Amino acid sequence: MLNGKKICVTGTSRGIGLELVSQYLLNGNEVFAVARKVEKDSALAQLKEKFGNRLTLVQADVGTESGREMIRSAVFAQTKSLDILVNNAGVYLDRRSDLPSVTDEILRDSFQTNAIAPLLLTQALLPLLEKSSDARVANISSLMGSISDNGRGGTYAYRMSKVALNMFTVSFARDYPKMIALTLHPGWVQTDMGGKDALTSVKESVTGLIQVIERATPEQSGKFYDFEGDLIEW
Ligand SMILES: NC(=O)c1ccc[n+]([C@@H]2O[C@H](COP(=O)([O-])OP(=O)(O)OC[C@H]3O[C@@H](n4cnc5c(N)ncnc54)[C@H](OP(=O)(O)O)[C@@H]3O)[C@@H](O)[C@H]2O)c1
Repeated sequence: MLNGKKICVTGTSRGIGLELVSQYLLNGNEVFAVARKVEKDSALAQLKEKFGNRLTLVQADVGTESGREMIRSAVFAQTKSLDILVNNAGVYLDRRSDLPSVTDEILRDSFQTNAIAPLLLTQALLPLLEKSSDARVANISSLMGSISDNGRGGTYAYRMSKVALNMFTVSFARDYPKMIALTLHPGWVQTDMGGKDALTSVKESVTGLIQVIERATPEQSGKFYDFEGDLIEW
C-alpha cells in the first residue's frame, strides 16, 4: 500500500469521501480533507484527534470561489507538492426526474458541484500537482455519466454533469501527460446518496478506488474505470 503521499480529498463529511480520508490515513499518508462543515464529535473530528498533524481539515464549499481559495491557501501553506487530488464531492439533485421537472437551478447546482468545481479546484492546485513526481487526479464520476450505458433516460442534471466531468478528465489527461488523470465509478454504494439497498459497502468501494488510483499506469490516463478496475465505455 502506498504511504507518505500528500493527498487532497473533497466531500469528506460522510460517505465515500470520509472513507477515503480514513483509509488514506490508515495507509500512512498525509491528508487534506475538504468538508463544508466539520461538526464537533463528527467522524472527521475524531480522525483529526487520532491522526493529528497528518490530517488537515479544510472547511470549505468547493462550489464557491471563496471556498476554493480557502482550500488553495490551506494546502499551499502546508506542502510544496501534492501527489493525489480526489475530486469526490458530488450532488445528486434530480434522481429519477423527467424533463418537465428539471429546473434551471437543479441543472446549475449539479454542474457547479459535479463538473465546474473539480476543474477549478484542479486548476487552483495545479502548481502543487506539477511538483509531484507522480501526480494523480481522480475524478469521482458515475456510470450514470456513461452515454452508452444510458438505457433508461431521465436524471438529466446528474447525468449531464458527470459527462462534463468525464470530458474534463480526458482533456486534462491530454494536456498534462506527466500526470495520471482518471474518471472513476465507485459502484452503487451504501451512502446517503446510494441508499441502503445499494450493492457495495463504502469500505469495499473505497478499497477498490484506492487500488485503481494507485496502480494506474500512464497508458490508463484519461480513461473511465469502475472501483474494481474494469474499463467503462463512455
Ligand atoms: N453512492 C453511490 O452509489 C454513487 C454512485 C456513483 C457515483 N457516486 C459519486 O461518488 C461521490 C461521493 O458520493 P457519496 O455516495 O459519498 O455521496 P454522499 O453520501 O451524498 O456524500 C456527498 C459528499 O459530498 C459533499 N459535498 C457536496 N457538495 C459539496 C460542496 N459544494 N463542497 C464540499 N463538499 C460537498 C457532501 O457534504 P455535505 O455533508 O456538506 O453535504 C458529502 O460529504 C459523488 O461524486 C457521487 O456522485 C456515488
